[in-house]
Amino acid sequence: MIGANSVLTLAVNIGIAAISYVMTIRMIPRFREMFIKANLYGKDLCKKDEKVVPESLGVLIGCVFLVAMFFFIPIPFTFGDAASAEVATTGGRSEVFPYKEFVELIAALLSICCMILLGFADDVLDLRWRHKLLLPTIATLPLLMVYYVNYNSTTVIMPKFARMFVGNTLDIGIFYYVYMGMLAVFCTNAINILAGINGLEVGQSIVIAGSILLYNTCEFLLQHQLDAHLFSMYLMLPFLAVSLALWKYNRYPSQVFVGDTYCYFAGMTFAVVGILGHFSKTLILFFIPQILNFLYSIPQLFHFVPCPRHRLPKYDSNTDLLTISTVTFRAEELNFIGKQMVNIFRFLKLISWKDHADGRITTNNFTLINFVLVIFGPVHENIVTYMLLGLQVICSIVAFFIRYPLANLFYDT
Ligand code: UD1
Ligand code: MG
Repeated sequence: MIGANSVLTLAVNIGIAAISYVMTIRMIPRFREMFIKANLYGKDLCKKDEKVVPESLGVLIGCVFLVAMFFFIPIPFTFGDAASAEVATTGGRSEVFPYKEFVELIAALLSICCMILLGFADDVLDLRWRHKLLLPTIATLPLLMVYYVNYNSTTVIMPKFARMFVGNTLDIGIFYYVYMGMLAVFCTNAINILAGINGLEVGQSIVIAGSILLYNTCEFLLQHQLDAHLFSMYLMLPFLAVSLALWKYNRYPSQVFVGDTYCYFAGMTFAVVGILGHFSKTLILFFIPQILNFLYSIPQLFHFVPCPRHRLPKYDSNTDLLTISTVTFRAEELNFIGKQMVNIFRFLKLISWKDHADGRITTNNFTLINFVLVIFGPVHENIVTYMLLGLQVICSIVAFFIRYPLANLFYDT
Protein backbone atom coordinates (compact mmCIF):
# COMPACT_ATOMS: atom_id res chain seq x y z
CA MET A 1 0.00 0.00 0.00
CA ILE A 2 1.11 3.54 -0.66
CA GLY A 3 2.00 5.23 2.65
CA ALA A 4 0.98 8.68 3.87
CA ASN A 5 4.58 9.82 3.53
CA SER A 6 4.68 9.03 -0.17
CA VAL A 7 1.53 11.11 -0.60
CA LEU A 8 3.29 13.96 1.20
CA THR A 9 6.35 13.56 -1.04
CA LEU A 10 4.13 13.62 -4.13
CA ALA A 11 2.36 16.74 -2.81
CA VAL A 12 5.74 18.50 -2.37
CA ASN A 13 6.68 17.43 -5.91
CA ILE A 14 3.44 18.92 -7.27
CA GLY A 15 4.21 22.13 -5.33
CA ILE A 16 7.71 22.31 -6.80
CA ALA A 17 6.27 21.64 -10.29
CA ALA A 18 3.76 24.50 -9.85
CA ILE A 19 6.54 26.90 -8.78
CA SER A 20 8.66 25.79 -11.78
CA TYR A 21 5.73 26.54 -14.08
CA VAL A 22 5.32 30.07 -12.75
CA MET A 23 9.09 30.71 -12.81
CA THR A 24 9.41 29.49 -16.42
CA ILE A 25 6.45 31.59 -17.57
CA ARG A 26 8.18 34.65 -16.12
CA MET A 27 11.69 33.81 -17.29
CA ILE A 28 11.13 33.05 -20.98
CA PRO A 29 10.17 36.62 -22.05
CA ARG A 30 13.10 38.04 -20.07
CA PHE A 31 15.59 35.76 -21.79
CA ARG A 32 14.32 36.25 -25.37
CA GLU A 33 16.47 39.28 -26.18
CA MET A 34 19.47 37.70 -24.47
CA PHE A 35 19.27 34.66 -26.77
CA ILE A 36 18.99 36.84 -29.88
CA LYS A 37 22.01 38.90 -28.76
CA ALA A 38 23.96 35.66 -28.36
CA ASN A 39 23.10 34.80 -31.98
CA LEU A 40 20.80 32.02 -30.85
CA TYR A 41 17.91 32.58 -33.23
CA GLY A 42 16.29 31.05 -36.25
CA LYS A 43 13.92 32.21 -38.98
CA ASP A 44 10.31 31.12 -38.80
CA LEU A 45 10.15 29.56 -42.26
CA CYS A 46 6.35 29.30 -42.32
CA LYS A 47 5.65 33.02 -41.92
CA LYS A 48 5.33 35.88 -44.40
CA ASP A 49 8.29 37.93 -43.21
CA GLU A 50 10.35 34.95 -41.94
CA LYS A 51 10.74 36.83 -38.66
CA VAL A 52 13.62 36.12 -36.33
CA VAL A 53 12.75 33.96 -33.33
CA PRO A 54 15.05 33.09 -30.39
CA GLU A 55 16.15 29.45 -30.66
CA SER A 56 17.21 26.78 -28.11
CA LEU A 57 14.96 27.94 -25.25
CA GLY A 58 15.04 24.25 -24.28
CA VAL A 59 18.29 24.95 -22.47
CA LEU A 60 16.52 27.44 -20.20
CA ILE A 61 13.61 25.20 -19.29
CA GLY A 62 15.96 22.21 -18.94
CA CYS A 63 17.89 24.20 -16.34
CA VAL A 64 14.69 25.15 -14.48
CA PHE A 65 13.76 21.45 -14.45
CA LEU A 66 17.17 20.46 -13.06
CA VAL A 67 17.09 23.14 -10.34
CA ALA A 68 13.55 22.05 -9.38
CA MET A 69 14.73 18.44 -9.13
CA PHE A 70 17.80 19.45 -7.09
CA PHE A 71 15.46 21.05 -4.53
CA PHE A 72 13.32 17.91 -4.61
CA ILE A 73 16.17 15.39 -4.07
CA PRO A 74 16.13 15.47 -0.23
CA ILE A 75 12.33 15.15 0.02
CA PRO A 76 11.79 11.39 -0.64
CA PHE A 77 14.65 10.64 1.75
CA THR A 78 13.20 12.86 4.49
CA PHE A 79 9.47 12.14 4.19
CA GLY A 80 9.48 9.04 1.96
CA ASP A 81 8.20 5.71 3.26
CA ALA A 82 11.68 4.13 3.06
CA ALA A 83 13.13 6.80 5.35
CA SER A 84 10.20 6.87 7.79
CA ALA A 85 10.32 3.11 8.36
CA GLU A 86 13.84 3.49 9.70
CA VAL A 87 12.96 6.55 11.77
CA ALA A 88 10.14 4.59 13.38
CA THR A 89 12.44 1.75 14.47
CA THR A 90 15.44 3.78 15.55
CA GLY A 91 13.44 6.65 16.95
CA GLY A 92 15.74 9.13 15.33
CA ARG A 93 17.73 9.69 12.17
CA SER A 94 17.60 6.98 9.56
CA GLU A 95 20.50 4.55 9.96
CA VAL A 96 19.99 2.53 6.81
CA PHE A 97 19.85 5.06 4.02
CA PRO A 98 17.92 4.02 0.85
CA TYR A 99 21.02 4.24 -1.33
CA LYS A 100 19.43 2.38 -4.21
CA GLU A 101 16.68 4.96 -4.73
CA PHE A 102 19.11 7.81 -4.08
CA VAL A 103 21.59 6.65 -6.71
CA GLU A 104 18.76 6.12 -9.20
CA LEU A 105 17.55 9.68 -8.83
CA ILE A 106 21.06 11.14 -9.08
CA ALA A 107 21.96 9.02 -12.14
CA ALA A 108 18.66 9.92 -13.82
CA LEU A 109 19.43 13.62 -13.38
CA LEU A 110 23.02 13.12 -14.52
CA SER A 111 21.85 11.50 -17.76
CA ILE A 112 19.25 14.22 -18.38
CA CYS A 113 21.77 16.98 -17.55
CA CYS A 114 24.31 15.41 -19.91
CA MET A 115 21.70 15.27 -22.68
CA ILE A 116 20.78 18.95 -22.21
CA LEU A 117 24.46 19.85 -22.54
CA LEU A 118 24.94 17.73 -25.65
CA GLY A 119 21.68 19.02 -27.15
CA PHE A 120 22.81 22.58 -26.65
CA ALA A 121 26.15 21.72 -28.27
CA ASP A 122 24.16 20.41 -31.25
CA ASP A 123 22.17 23.66 -31.48
CA VAL A 124 25.27 25.82 -31.37
CA LEU A 125 27.53 23.67 -33.56
CA ASP A 126 24.88 22.12 -35.85
CA LEU A 127 26.34 18.61 -35.61
CA ARG A 128 26.10 15.97 -38.32
CA TRP A 129 23.44 13.42 -37.90
CA ARG A 130 25.72 10.49 -37.12
CA HIS A 131 26.77 12.46 -34.02
CA LYS A 132 23.11 12.88 -33.17
CA LEU A 133 22.97 9.11 -32.81
CA LEU A 134 26.08 9.00 -30.68
CA LEU A 135 25.13 11.72 -28.17
CA PRO A 136 22.14 10.00 -26.52
CA THR A 137 24.10 6.74 -26.34
CA ILE A 138 26.80 8.49 -24.33
CA ALA A 139 24.26 10.25 -22.11
CA THR A 140 22.57 6.94 -21.18
CA LEU A 141 25.78 5.35 -19.88
CA PRO A 142 25.35 6.56 -16.25
CA LEU A 143 21.80 5.28 -16.34
CA LEU A 144 22.75 1.85 -17.68
CA MET A 145 25.47 1.61 -15.03
CA VAL A 146 22.91 2.17 -12.27
CA TYR A 147 20.58 -0.33 -13.89
CA TYR A 148 23.44 -2.84 -13.93
CA VAL A 149 24.33 -2.30 -10.25
CA ASN A 150 20.76 -2.11 -8.93
CA TYR A 151 18.91 -4.69 -11.01
CA ASN A 152 20.92 -6.23 -13.80
CA SER A 153 17.71 -7.97 -14.76
CA THR A 154 17.93 -8.73 -18.46
CA THR A 155 15.06 -11.20 -18.50
CA VAL A 156 12.11 -10.65 -20.79
CA ILE A 157 8.71 -12.16 -19.98
CA MET A 158 7.48 -14.13 -22.99
CA PRO A 159 3.95 -13.88 -24.36
CA LYS A 160 1.80 -16.96 -23.72
CA PHE A 161 2.01 -18.29 -27.30
CA ALA A 162 5.84 -18.33 -27.26
CA ARG A 163 6.22 -20.05 -23.89
CA MET A 164 6.14 -23.59 -25.25
CA PHE A 165 9.20 -22.75 -27.38
CA VAL A 166 11.40 -20.65 -25.08
CA GLY A 167 9.89 -20.96 -21.60
CA ASN A 168 8.16 -18.33 -19.46
CA THR A 169 11.08 -15.93 -19.55
CA LEU A 170 14.13 -15.37 -21.74
CA ASP A 171 17.41 -13.87 -20.57
CA ILE A 172 18.71 -11.73 -23.43
CA GLY A 173 21.81 -10.55 -21.52
CA ILE A 174 23.85 -7.77 -23.14
CA PHE A 175 21.16 -7.20 -25.78
CA TYR A 176 18.92 -5.77 -23.08
CA TYR A 177 21.49 -3.01 -22.55
CA VAL A 178 21.80 -2.45 -26.30
CA TYR A 179 18.01 -2.17 -26.43
CA MET A 180 17.94 0.41 -23.59
CA GLY A 181 20.69 2.45 -25.27
CA MET A 182 18.75 2.38 -28.54
CA LEU A 183 15.58 3.42 -26.73
CA ALA A 184 17.28 6.67 -25.69
CA VAL A 185 18.56 7.26 -29.24
CA PHE A 186 15.08 6.66 -30.60
CA CYS A 187 13.16 8.81 -28.08
CA THR A 188 15.45 11.82 -28.55
CA ASN A 189 15.71 11.76 -32.35
CA ALA A 190 12.12 10.71 -33.01
CA ILE A 191 10.83 13.91 -31.39
CA ASN A 192 13.43 16.02 -33.21
CA ILE A 193 12.40 14.79 -36.67
CA LEU A 194 8.66 15.21 -36.08
CA ALA A 195 9.19 18.97 -36.03
CA GLY A 196 9.19 22.16 -38.06
CA ILE A 197 5.77 23.70 -37.41
CA ASN A 198 4.99 25.90 -34.43
CA GLY A 199 4.37 24.06 -31.17
CA LEU A 200 4.73 20.51 -32.45
CA GLU A 201 7.86 19.46 -30.51
CA VAL A 202 6.49 20.65 -27.16
CA GLY A 203 2.90 19.64 -27.93
CA GLN A 204 3.80 16.00 -28.65
CA SER A 205 6.01 15.88 -25.54
CA ILE A 206 3.14 17.19 -23.41
CA VAL A 207 0.80 14.48 -24.73
CA ILE A 208 3.43 11.78 -24.14
CA ALA A 209 4.18 13.07 -20.61
CA GLY A 210 0.44 13.20 -19.85
CA SER A 211 0.04 9.61 -21.11
CA ILE A 212 2.95 8.42 -18.95
CA LEU A 213 1.45 10.11 -15.88
CA LEU A 214 -1.93 8.52 -16.59
CA TYR A 215 -0.26 5.14 -16.98
CA ASN A 216 1.64 5.61 -13.69
CA THR A 217 -1.65 6.46 -11.97
CA CYS A 218 -3.37 3.35 -13.40
CA GLU A 219 -0.51 1.12 -12.22
CA PHE A 220 -0.72 2.83 -8.84
CA LEU A 221 -4.38 2.01 -8.51
CA LEU A 222 -3.63 -1.56 -9.59
CA GLN A 223 -0.92 -1.70 -6.88
CA HIS A 224 1.83 -2.66 -9.36
CA GLN A 225 5.44 -1.64 -8.59
CA LEU A 226 4.50 1.40 -6.54
CA ASP A 227 8.06 2.68 -6.07
CA ALA A 228 8.90 2.55 -9.78
CA HIS A 229 5.78 4.48 -10.78
CA LEU A 230 6.25 6.98 -7.98
CA PHE A 231 9.79 7.57 -9.27
CA SER A 232 8.41 8.20 -12.75
CA MET A 233 5.87 10.71 -11.43
CA TYR A 234 8.55 12.62 -9.51
CA LEU A 235 10.31 13.33 -12.82
CA MET A 236 7.27 13.65 -15.07
CA LEU A 237 5.35 16.26 -13.05
CA PRO A 238 8.08 18.96 -13.09
CA PHE A 239 8.80 18.03 -16.74
CA LEU A 240 5.14 18.55 -17.64
CA ALA A 241 5.10 21.86 -15.73
CA VAL A 242 8.07 23.40 -17.55
CA SER A 243 6.85 22.04 -20.91
CA LEU A 244 3.41 23.61 -20.42
CA ALA A 245 5.11 26.94 -19.73
CA LEU A 246 7.22 26.56 -22.89
CA TRP A 247 4.11 25.64 -24.90
CA LYS A 248 2.58 29.01 -23.98
CA TYR A 249 5.38 30.73 -25.95
CA ASN A 250 6.10 28.09 -28.58
CA ARG A 251 2.57 27.47 -29.86
CA TYR A 252 1.38 29.25 -32.99
CA PRO A 253 2.57 31.99 -33.59
CA SER A 254 5.87 31.01 -31.97
CA GLN A 255 7.59 33.65 -29.87
CA VAL A 256 10.43 31.24 -29.11
CA PHE A 257 11.83 28.04 -30.65
CA VAL A 258 12.71 25.08 -28.50
CA GLY A 259 15.84 23.93 -30.34
CA ASP A 260 17.28 20.43 -30.45
CA THR A 261 18.11 20.93 -26.76
CA TYR A 262 14.45 20.53 -25.83
CA CYS A 263 13.89 17.52 -28.11
CA TYR A 264 16.85 15.73 -26.57
CA PHE A 265 15.90 16.77 -23.05
CA ALA A 266 12.32 15.53 -23.49
CA GLY A 267 13.34 12.26 -25.19
CA MET A 268 15.96 11.50 -22.56
CA THR A 269 13.55 12.21 -19.69
CA PHE A 270 11.07 9.75 -21.22
CA ALA A 271 13.79 7.12 -21.73
CA VAL A 272 14.99 7.56 -18.13
CA VAL A 273 11.55 7.02 -16.59
CA GLY A 274 10.86 4.13 -18.96
CA ILE A 275 14.10 2.35 -18.07
CA LEU A 276 14.23 2.99 -14.31
CA GLY A 277 10.44 2.75 -13.97
CA HIS A 278 10.56 -0.68 -15.70
CA PHE A 279 7.98 0.17 -18.35
CA SER A 280 10.14 0.68 -21.43
CA LYS A 281 7.88 -1.47 -23.61
CA THR A 282 4.77 0.48 -22.62
CA LEU A 283 6.72 3.71 -23.20
CA ILE A 284 7.25 2.75 -26.84
CA LEU A 285 3.47 2.46 -27.23
CA PHE A 286 3.17 6.19 -26.51
CA PHE A 287 5.47 6.90 -29.46
CA ILE A 288 3.26 5.47 -32.24
CA PRO A 289 3.15 8.70 -34.36
CA GLN A 290 6.92 9.09 -33.93
CA ILE A 291 7.42 5.46 -35.04
CA LEU A 292 5.22 6.05 -38.10
CA ASN A 293 7.13 9.23 -38.92
CA PHE A 294 10.44 7.39 -38.53
CA LEU A 295 9.36 4.48 -40.76
CA TYR A 296 8.02 6.90 -43.38
CA SER A 297 11.26 8.91 -43.18
CA ILE A 298 13.62 5.93 -43.60
CA PRO A 299 14.22 6.43 -47.38
CA GLN A 300 15.39 10.01 -46.75
CA LEU A 301 17.09 9.47 -43.38
CA PHE A 302 19.31 6.75 -44.83
CA HIS A 303 19.78 8.71 -48.08
CA PHE A 304 18.14 6.23 -50.43
CA VAL A 305 16.23 9.31 -51.61
CA PRO A 306 17.80 12.81 -51.50
CA CYS A 307 17.14 14.55 -48.16
CA PRO A 308 17.22 18.38 -48.03
CA ARG A 309 18.41 20.17 -44.86
CA HIS A 310 14.81 21.15 -44.03
CA ARG A 311 11.83 18.97 -44.79
CA LEU A 312 9.20 21.16 -43.14
CA PRO A 313 6.16 22.12 -45.27
CA LYS A 314 6.22 25.05 -47.71
CA TYR A 315 4.51 28.28 -46.79
CA ASP A 316 2.24 29.96 -49.31
CA SER A 317 2.22 33.65 -48.45
CA ASN A 318 -0.80 34.37 -50.70
CA THR A 319 -3.14 32.03 -48.87
CA ASP A 320 -1.30 31.87 -45.47
CA LEU A 321 -1.57 28.07 -45.74
CA LEU A 322 1.02 25.29 -45.67
CA THR A 323 1.51 22.99 -48.65
CA ILE A 324 3.76 19.98 -49.07
CA SER A 325 7.48 20.57 -49.44
CA THR A 326 8.94 18.52 -52.27
CA VAL A 327 12.09 16.81 -53.43
CA THR A 328 12.98 16.36 -57.11
CA PHE A 329 15.28 13.62 -58.42
CA ARG A 330 15.90 11.34 -61.38
CA ALA A 331 14.94 7.67 -61.12
CA GLU A 332 18.50 6.74 -62.25
CA GLU A 333 19.92 8.59 -59.21
CA LEU A 334 18.34 6.05 -56.87
CA ASN A 335 19.93 2.71 -56.11
CA PHE A 336 17.96 -0.55 -56.21
CA ILE A 337 16.64 -0.29 -52.63
CA GLY A 338 15.72 3.38 -53.08
CA LYS A 339 13.73 2.56 -56.23
CA GLN A 340 11.84 -0.24 -54.47
CA MET A 341 11.02 1.98 -51.50
CA VAL A 342 9.70 4.78 -53.68
CA ASN A 343 7.67 2.34 -55.79
CA ILE A 344 6.07 0.77 -52.72
CA PHE A 345 5.18 4.21 -51.29
CA ARG A 346 3.75 5.22 -54.66
CA PHE A 347 1.75 2.00 -54.99
CA LEU A 348 0.30 2.47 -51.48
CA LYS A 349 -0.48 6.11 -52.36
CA LEU A 350 1.58 7.31 -49.40
CA ILE A 351 3.36 10.00 -51.42
CA SER A 352 2.47 12.60 -54.01
CA TRP A 353 4.00 11.96 -57.43
CA LYS A 354 4.72 14.17 -60.42
CA ASP A 355 6.56 13.10 -63.60
CA HIS A 356 8.37 15.89 -65.46
CA ALA A 357 8.86 15.97 -69.24
CA ASP A 358 12.65 15.68 -68.79
CA GLY A 359 12.30 12.45 -66.81
CA ARG A 360 12.68 13.94 -63.35
CA ILE A 361 10.27 13.02 -60.57
CA THR A 362 8.90 15.24 -57.81
CA THR A 363 7.48 13.78 -54.59
CA ASN A 364 6.73 15.25 -51.19
CA ASN A 365 9.35 15.01 -48.45
CA PHE A 366 8.71 11.85 -46.46
CA THR A 367 7.46 13.25 -43.13
CA LEU A 368 4.20 12.76 -41.26
CA ILE A 369 3.51 16.51 -41.47
CA ASN A 370 3.74 16.40 -45.28
CA PHE A 371 1.64 13.22 -45.34
CA VAL A 372 -1.17 15.05 -43.54
CA LEU A 373 -0.93 17.75 -46.21
CA VAL A 374 -0.93 15.16 -49.02
CA ILE A 375 -4.27 13.91 -47.68
CA PHE A 376 -5.96 17.15 -46.63
CA GLY A 377 -4.41 19.60 -49.12
CA PRO A 378 -3.24 23.07 -48.03
CA VAL A 379 -4.01 23.64 -44.34
CA HIS A 380 -3.22 26.47 -41.92
CA GLU A 381 -0.09 25.88 -39.77
CA ASN A 382 -2.00 26.07 -36.49
CA ILE A 383 -4.54 23.50 -37.70
CA VAL A 384 -1.81 21.08 -38.90
CA THR A 385 -0.23 21.20 -35.43
CA TYR A 386 -3.55 20.41 -33.77
CA MET A 387 -4.27 17.64 -36.29
CA LEU A 388 -0.96 15.98 -35.43
CA LEU A 389 -1.48 16.49 -31.70
CA GLY A 390 -4.98 15.00 -32.11
CA LEU A 391 -3.38 11.99 -33.78
CA GLN A 392 -0.95 11.74 -30.86
CA VAL A 393 -3.88 11.67 -28.40
CA ILE A 394 -5.75 9.04 -30.43
CA CYS A 395 -2.59 6.90 -30.58
CA SER A 396 -2.24 7.19 -26.78
CA ILE A 397 -5.81 5.91 -26.39
CA VAL A 398 -4.90 3.00 -28.70
CA ALA A 399 -1.75 2.46 -26.61
CA PHE A 400 -3.82 2.11 -23.42
CA PHE A 401 -6.06 -0.35 -25.23
CA ILE A 402 -3.04 -2.41 -26.32
CA ARG A 403 -1.48 -2.22 -22.84
CA TYR A 404 -4.52 -3.28 -20.86
CA PRO A 405 -7.30 -5.31 -22.56
CA LEU A 406 -5.09 -6.62 -25.38
CA ALA A 407 -1.93 -7.39 -23.37
CA ASN A 408 -4.01 -9.51 -20.98
CA LEU A 409 -4.60 -11.90 -23.87
CA PHE A 410 -0.87 -12.44 -24.32
CA TYR A 411 0.45 -12.04 -20.76
CA ASP A 412 -1.06 -13.00 -17.44
CA THR A 413 -0.57 -9.60 -15.79
C1 UD1 B 1 14.76 18.49 -38.17
C2 UD1 B 1 14.29 17.83 -39.46
C3 UD1 B 1 14.14 18.85 -40.59
C4 UD1 B 1 13.16 19.94 -40.15
C5 UD1 B 1 13.66 20.56 -38.86
C6 UD1 B 1 12.63 21.56 -38.34
C7 UD1 B 1 14.84 15.63 -40.32
C8 UD1 B 1 15.92 14.70 -40.72
N1 UD1 B 1 15.24 16.83 -39.87
O1 UD1 B 1 16.07 18.96 -38.41
O2 UD1 B 1 13.66 18.21 -41.74
O3 UD1 B 1 13.07 20.92 -41.14
O4 UD1 B 1 13.85 19.54 -37.84
O5 UD1 B 1 12.74 21.83 -37.00
O6 UD1 B 1 13.68 15.32 -40.40
N2 UD1 B 1 11.54 26.03 -37.68
C9 UD1 B 1 10.45 26.74 -38.12
N3 UD1 B 1 9.27 26.63 -37.44
C10 UD1 B 1 9.15 25.85 -36.32
C11 UD1 B 1 10.28 25.11 -35.88
C12 UD1 B 1 11.45 25.23 -36.58
O7 UD1 B 1 10.52 27.46 -39.10
O8 UD1 B 1 8.07 25.80 -35.73
C13 UD1 B 1 12.82 26.19 -38.39
C14 UD1 B 1 13.56 27.42 -37.91
O9 UD1 B 1 14.24 27.98 -38.98
C15 UD1 B 1 14.53 26.85 -36.90
C16 UD1 B 1 14.88 25.52 -37.53
O10 UD1 B 1 13.66 25.06 -38.12
O11 UD1 B 1 15.67 27.67 -36.74
C17 UD1 B 1 15.35 24.51 -36.52
O12 UD1 B 1 15.77 23.40 -37.17
P1 UD1 B 1 16.69 22.32 -36.44
O13 UD1 B 1 16.04 21.90 -35.18
O14 UD1 B 1 18.08 22.82 -36.34
O15 UD1 B 1 16.60 21.15 -37.51
P2 UD1 B 1 16.98 19.63 -37.28
O16 UD1 B 1 16.55 19.19 -35.93
O17 UD1 B 1 18.39 19.39 -37.68
MG1 MG C 1 15.50 20.12 -34.31
